[in-house]
Amino acid sequence: MKSTTGALAILGSLVWVLTWDTGLTRLGAGETRATGHQHMAQSAPGGSGKASAPAQAPSTPGVSRRSPAAEYTPTVRYRLRTELAEGKMAFVGVGGAIEGVVNPTLPVNQGDVVQLSLVNNDGIEHDVVVPDFKAGTDRVARKGASSVTVFRADKAGDAAYFCSLPGHRQAGMEGKIVVGGVRAPVAALPPSVSIVRDPMDLPGPAAPGPPRMVNVELEAIELVGRLASETTYNYWTFNGKVPGPFLRIRVGDTVELTFKNNARSRMIHSVDLHAVTGPGGGAVMTQTPPGETKSFRFKALNPGLYVYHCATPMVANHISSGMYGLIFVEPAGGLSKVDHEFYVMQGELYTDRSFGQRGHDEFSVEKLLAERPEYLVFNGAVGALTNEHPMKARVGDTVRIYFGVGGPNITSSFHVIGEIFDRVFGEAAMGSPIRTNVQTTMVPAGGATIVEFKLEVPGRYILVDHSLSRLERGLAAFLVVDGPENPEVFHGPNGATSMKGH
Ligand code: CU
Ligand code: CU
Ligand code: CU
Repeated sequence: MKSTTGALAILGSLVWVLTWDTGLTRLGAGETRATGHQHMAQSAPGGSGKASAPAQAPSTPGVSRRSPAAEYTPTVRYRLRTELAEGKMAFVGVGGAIEGVVNPTLPVNQGDVVQLSLVNNDGIEHDVVVPDFKAGTDRVARKGASSVTVFRADKAGDAAYFCSLPGHRQAGMEGKIVVGGVRAPVAALPPSVSIVRDPMDLPGPAAPGPPRMVNVELEAIELVGRLASETTYNYWTFNGKVPGPFLRIRVGDTVELTFKNNARSRMIHSVDLHAVTGPGGGAVMTQTPPGETKSFRFKALNPGLYVYHCATPMVANHISSGMYGLIFVEPAGGLSKVDHEFYVMQGELYTDRSFGQRGHDEFSVEKLLAERPEYLVFNGAVGALTNEHPMKARVGDTVRIYFGVGGPNITSSFHVIGEIFDRVFGEAAMGSPIRTNVQTTMVPAGGATIVEFKLEVPGRYILVDHSLSRLERGLAAFLVVDGPENPEVFHGPNGATSMKGH
């Protein structure tokens, strides 16, 4: 529950961004370079061009710079770069169907929320404005700077876009947005499946009693999965989902782990569990070619919530492709009872094409080595926990989230917008003092946390990494809370007391 108006304003501006989902219909962003073979596709570096612009102060009279209202959800993205040639100025399309097109016509549907980006490519001051929709970017003067505007195309017909600097429109910087009817040609997608792990797909507490012998089976499965509603990727998984299955044992248990690599795999795979005491965490004993099975046994000496992942070279490639999960070694007495437990993991994908394009993405080793992911996701895919499996609870419930970062590289500043963690097991450490009343908790790559909180107010709460640029690359999850309003705790104007209804 945020208490300051500043925080609420930020929340409001975030909400519309967060309500974007997998409904991206036409994406003009970034390069669409066809690249090499399956797992080692090369890509052009620096293609994403997502640097944000320093604000250039002057604004164009009559053009609103205000953020769109909270209900806006971007459905179409176009990017333009500026160009100067022989005294003529122009906008040139970047990515998708408008790549390289001078002053491209931008088709949108009536009602679409359009995100229009301008990248300065000539070092001359420009902007792009769409007066019909009271929209425009900031002015950007330096080469490489960029600015973005978002507006709703709420009227049918043609709308001009142009540069508002004196003389630039006349010098050639003008095009049109056509609202209604025209759809870009649709590329075929390969057959794909959902690889999303339902956050409620986890076993209940391990039964009390003496230490047990527990059999665990993991299978490496490679499959073409949906990275976003119109984007596919060749995932490598444990048991077909991302993250892999939530393994749950009790301290002192001995695990007999069977690791199988599906016969249809192309790669060798393995598993390294951070809960294991012993070299490689099991990876040494489980390097498994396609179609084979290996096993090993370990005793869980330390309680805690641990990441497991594939540890076959290139390890970071295997992890980013989806091979990570959590194993919970419960302390002897278990944890307290809560109404809901959820299983959420954060990961990164390094695709050859920039974020948000339709079609099949391939892996980019260059972006992996540069640690520049195109996608950051919860439970494997864009929209996994907003569209496909939003978490649900009721006012008065207590929730516990087992949260881990598969990575392979990016530390998460884990936060729930609109809530405060009542209790945090920092770094998922068991036996340490529990932290109380935490806003944001750091979870390193290859690390985990356990957070608990009670729900007092209905509405939609949003799990994020508070490094919020990552929102723009897919990182959001919803916790939808139903139940009676609680005006004593949260109350707005006009009797609105919750975040419902965007
Ligand atoms: Cu200009
Ligand atoms: Cu692997
Ligand atoms: Cu590790």
